[in-house]
Amino acid sequence: MTRRKLVAGNWKMHGMRADLVEVEAIAAAAAAHRQIDVVLALPATLIGPAAAYAGPLAIGGQDCHANPKGAHTGCLSAAMLHEAGASVVIVGHSERRADQNETSQDAWAKAEAARAAGLRVILCCGETEAERDAGRAERVVQAQIEKSVPEDANGDWFTLAYEPRWAIGTGRTPTPEEIASIHAIARAKMRQLVGDAAGGIRILYGGSVTGDNAASILATPEVDGALVGGASLTAAKFVPIIEAAA
Ligand code: G3H
Repeated sequence: MTRRKLVAGNWKMHGMRADLVEVEAIAAAAAAHRQIDVVLALPATLIGPAAAYAGPLAIGGQDCHANPKGAHTGCLSAAMLHEAGASVVIVGHSERRADQNETSQDAWAKAEAARAAGLRVILCCGETEAERDAGRAERVVQAQIEKSVPEDANGDWFTLAYEPRWAIGTGRTPTPEEIASIHAIARAKMRQLVGDAAGGIRILYGGSVTGDNAASILATPEVDGALVGGASLTAAKFVPIIEAAA
């Protein structure tokens, strides 16, 4: 099955209004490469201003609450993100798993809430360095998928991102063979859960993707795009990754 490439940037806790010039330049690159999908997951404070001129660049949130409303100080619902201008949200990112003790079950609930609010979802999974060293990477990823991928997931609204935690922000990446192997395992696991719909679900690779390694990573079998952190913060670094995918 042919799947459109998707390049997603995640600004994490970076970005002030002055940085909207970068969003504008990235939006121009997305407009020039409409054969692929480009997403930028921004801090909530920038979603509204960025969405005003994003055009074909989809603006995303980086997390949402699993509940539609309630006494959850400091949290944002999926509907709030949607109303602000987001069309996508990341859930289950390893930094939220580490910093906020979020589980795969939390990611499942957030994915369901996001879908109900009309958002597309990028759900993250990936092993720690200790799990990799213990030879448990495949089993960890399979278990995360089993607990977090909704039964009604399909490529229209759902994307999986494989991000080995030891590769995030470190400059280290798995070999293309290792990425292809885990992605194939992830798709097989999703096929058990959602059947043929798994064939339409994009699987992104994330972890130290840069303009220098994007072409080889994106050419790897089973890699349908990239989830990019540090190298998405400026157009100068992110546009070459978009171009590599196009
Ligand atoms: O969400 C993005 C990932 O955590 C990757 O971050 O590209 O800075 O390694 P990185």
